[in-house]
Amino acid sequence: MGTSYDVIIIGGGVNGCASAYYLSKTGKKILLLEKDRIASKASSAAAGMLGAQVEVTEAGPLFELAKESRAIFPHLQQDLKELTGIDIELVQKGMLKLAYHEEEVMSLKKTIALQQGLGEKAAWISKEEVLRREPDLGVEMLGAMDIPMDGHVNPEKLTHAFAKAAITLGAEIKEYVEVYSIQDLNQETVKVETSEGSFAGDSIVVTAGAWSKRILSELGLNLPSYPVKGECFSVLTDKPILESTIFTDSCYIVPKSGNRLVVGATMVPHTFSEKVSIGGLASLMKEAIRTLPAIEHASFERTWAGIRPQTGDGLPFLGKHPTFPSIFIATGHYRNGILLSPITGKLVAGMINGWKLPDYMLAFGLERIQEPSMR
Ligand code: FAD
Ligand code: GLY
Repeated sequence: MGTSYDVIIIGGGVNGCASAYYLSKTGKKILLLEKDRIASKASSAAAGMLGAQVEVTEAGPLFELAKESRAIFPHLQQDLKELTGIDIELVQKGMLKLAYHEEEVMSLKKTIALQQGLGEKAAWISKEEVLRREPDLGVEMLGAMDIPMDGHVNPEKLTHAFAKAAITLGAEIKEYVEVYSIQDLNQETVKVETSEGSFAGDSIVVTAGAWSKRILSELGLNLPSYPVKGECFSVLTDKPILESTIFTDSCYIVPKSGNRLVVGATMVPHTFSEKVSIGGLASLMKEAIRTLPAIEHASFERTWAGIRPQTGDGLPFLGKHPTFPSIFIATGHYRNGILLSPITGKLVAGMINGWKLPDYMLAFGLERIQEPSMR
């Protein structure tokens, strides 16, 4: 069987690679196994928004986690650039969440008051002010929630930067190696059976996104989670037509480098199919044109889909397996896995090193699987 590792990580998406990076920083000997290529699933399909305030609108542990993770990005960008040369393309030009009906105006104003009460920057801005800032937006909207602190990154580059940084710090990463099962759970060293033979480690971290449920069911754990497909498309414009990221109830438009706009995303639950449907694409295009009429003149670039890992109560799983203490789980990040990746990596490193963790971790533990609301 050869070398034994401190930690074996299963899954090379953004959360597996972030865990490899932060664990390597603590001196652990890491092996990461990915059945396909690094960032080949949800982590390259994502739009890369760091939408702590736009996606999470209620106070609570997820909001805390999201804000803490968002705050890590500016330093992380520098650290990853220095270690790997990869620019994760962090953009901090804010988001506008548009309202089209009076009920949406009321609801956004409530969210703004709540977030201001929690010390966050958020404000209501009038239609005239929105159009002054973003003159190419459609005139149907009634105004917007202005969120200056939410931004975006290039999710694929972020994942590769985490992976490369981990390698620089001594981690081993093997692509095209599928994990079939985890054995010897009650021994001091746990064994992972794969398409390339067995590997042994003191601890295992399952970061296999929407596929984590399959791996964990082999260990008698019925993870309450399910896949939610998201379809996106991108276009290219001759000149920049948007500064901020635009978010509505039906779509979002993210201005990327090179005059590229990423438009997302559909929500199709209970499928692992990564096919893009004409229906999904047509509805996104209709919403994008309503939101930003000028997009009609852009050239179509490409379309794609990815599978989000959703959980029964909408909170990620970050914790130990309830029966086997050498198995750690970090999955279920649903629509926010890119945003949450730095804090996920840090918390995985904290759990494995036995550090004191923040109180909010209780909300993400595996113990809640026993609760009636999760069945
Ligand atoms: P994944 O990226 O899915 O990685 C899991 C990896 O595990 C895969 O590479 C898979 O091949 C591997 N694997 C599975 N089984 C095995 C096995 N048996 N052996 C070895 N390897 C295995 N989040 C944001 O924060 N902001 C956004 O703007 C955003 N936009 C999104 C848009 C779309 C269309 C989608 C689909 C998602 C979006 N998300 C966004 C969510 C985000 O992409 C996910 O939450 C995140 O990528 C999940 O990362 P992960 O590492 O947990 O899983
Ligand atoms: N966070 C955007 C999405 O999941 O589509």
